[in-house]
Order: sequence, then structure tokens, then C-alpha cells
Amino acid sequence: MLKNKPDYYNDLDKVYLKIWDLLKVGLKNRDLPFHIPVFICGDKQKSDGRIVVLRGVDTKEKKIWFHSDIRSNKIKILNSNPEATLLFYDKNEKIQLRISGNTKINYQNNITKKSWEKTAHMSRQCYLGDKDPGANISIPTSGLTPEVDNLKYTKEESEIGYKNFCVIETFIKSIEWLYLAAKGHRRAHFSLKNNSLEKKWLIP
Ligand SMILES: Cc1cc2nc3c(=O)[nH]c(=O)nc-3n(C[C@H](O)[C@H](O)[C@H](O)COP(=O)(O)O)c2cc1C
Repeated sequence: MLKNKPDYYNDLDKVYLKIWDLLKVGLKNRDLPFHIPVFICGDKQKSDGRIVVLRGVDTKEKKIWFHSDIRSNKIKILNSNPEATLLFYDKNEKIQLRISGNTKINYQNNITKKSWEKTAHMSRQCYLGDKDPGANISIPTSGLTPEVDNLKYTKEESEIGYKNFCVIETFIKSIEWLYLAAKGHRRAHFSLKNNSLEKKWLIP
């Protein structure tokens, strides 16, 4: 009866393992859709989503993280409401994940130091502009000098970007899973509170 169906199809424990597997594989492989989730946060007035690059997965502490610019608008939003969701979808796997939790903005601490040291030369470019991301500007521009635009800066020169760099961690509180299948979709919910895991099926 379950021919051609994955082993996690009717198994909540296997679904949970598959979730962490997808995150770990997505972290490493930039060609996979799980590498670039949509990060959604909002204040009382509105919520908004934006693509980010998944930079870390911690299965022990149940947290995931990405890098950002401390001057960006999402920081102001998270300061007023730290609750956020990361939305993932892999068309080949036919799996959607909505991962929600509390965020922590790391700035000039051991976590940012470690991450900054590992950032590639090219990635540092994002943090080398004088103006705030999202600031109004009268001409079309990257906001970078021609040298930085052309990656003509030394590692030493790029260190100034550290003052704009932050690491946004999401401490996972819940995960919602949706698996699309012609023979019947499956939807599940996982609650991760106080080191305990509650799992249940939902109607898709
Ligand atoms: C492929 C791709 C990857 C991106 N990665 C990041 C990222 O890791 N961190 C980030 O802050 N913004 C990233 N961005 C830019 C964001 O989508 C967004 O435009 C920017 O962070 C400003 O958002 P905000 O004004 O809501 O703060 C990425 C955009 C694309 C298209």
C-alpha cells in the first residue's frame, strides 16, 4: 500500500529526523532551496519576509542562524518583536517547513567573532557600505566604492565591516511540516519547549 512513499510518510519520528537532515544538508549545499529560506518577522503594524542564507544549524540547542547587517530594518523589527519564522520549501522533496521561534541578535560577541573570521572575502563586501541598507538614495547605486564593488580590498581593509555584522539566531519553538503527495498530503506539528518534544499530525 505504501509503495513509492518515503519511510517518513506515516511516521512522526522519522519526519522529525528528516527535518534536521534537510536543514543540515541545506546548510552545506548552496544549490538546494533549503539553503535560502524566507525569514519573516513583524511588528504590530505589519510583517515582512526576506530571503536569507542559512549559516548554521545546531541540533543540540535547537537553533538555526543567518548573518545580517546590524543597520538593516529587520533589526528594528526584531527589537520590538523577537518572534520570527523561517519558511522553507523544496520542490523536489515536496516539503514545506515553517520554523518559528525567538530570535537573538548577536553583535560584537564571541558568536559574531567566530562567524566573522569564517566569512569569505566576497561575503564581507555586504558589510562595507557607509550607508544604512534601505536608506533613500537619489541615484541607482550599490552604495559601495568602485574598489569594494570590484572586490579590490584586502582582508585587513575588510575588517571595518565587522562593525556592521551581526548573527541572528532563532531558538526553535515550533516546526510545522507539510509534505505534498498525490496519494494524500501529510501535515505535522512539533513543539519544542523546555527540552521536550511534542509531536502530532494535523489535517493538511
Ligand atoms: C539569495 C539572497 C540571499 C540573501 N541573504 C541574506 C542574508 O543572509 N542576510 C540578510 O540580512 N539579507 C540577505 N539577503 C537580502 C535580504 O533578502 C533583504 O533584502 C535584506 O536583508 C534587507 O531586508 P530588511 O530591510 O527587511 O532588513 C539575501 C537576498 C537574496 C536574494
